[in-house]
Amino acid sequence: MTDPQRYATVWKRMAPYMAARRNDIHLPLCFTWVQKLCDAYPDADRDICSLAIMLHDIGWYSIDNDRIMEEGFRSENYIQSDVRYLHEAEGVRMAREILSGTEWVHLTDPVCTIIDGHDTRTAPRDLNDRVVRDADKLWRYELAGLCVSAEWFQDDPKAYMTRITGFLRLFETDEGRAMAEAEMARTSQALMLHIL
Ligand SMILES: [Fe+2]
Ligand SMILES: [Fe+2]
Repeated sequence: MTDPQRYATVWKRMAPYMAARRNDIHLPLCFTWVQKLCDAYPDADRDICSLAIMLHDIGWYSIDNDRIMEEGFRSENYIQSDVRYLHEAEGVRMAREILSGTEWVHLTDPVCTIIDGHDTRTAPRDLNDRVVRDADKLWRYELAGLCVSAEWFQDDPKAYMTRITGFLRLFETDEGRAMAEAEMARTSQALMLHIL
């Protein structure tokens, strides 16, 4: 795993925007998953994938939290909701600003290409895109991620586990799906869902 310190300048610049929508939990957890996926897929570009996952959701900062929850998580067809498109566009704008003036400015275009449409585009563009998409999904199968994201959907743990079991088919990589299944088994045990 790459030491997250490698990207310390970016972490520090994005920190003020991480409070929105519990991105202060989501983004660090996803960062670790992107590292595991890059270990499994060495042809992925680790710097591009790391920076893209760190910055992919900071655009939520520009949107009112009640609106995020109502339209972006609890509405019909929430993945194609206006706030989803808005957080992607804002994310690209903010990522450009954050990366400028850092040692990673040369990766701005490939990073922003992934951020743009990361939720709403139906098909991934390349391996880096696929790795970032799977890291963005994997966090919700671990205990801390489940606690946060179940709340967004107003699900209890059992209902949320059923929901994310259905999401397994959305994984882009075989390794990502296998990691999700293993993590899901651990989380189910931790929450006693095999008994309850
Ligand atoms: Fe997103
Ligand atoms: Fe995300």
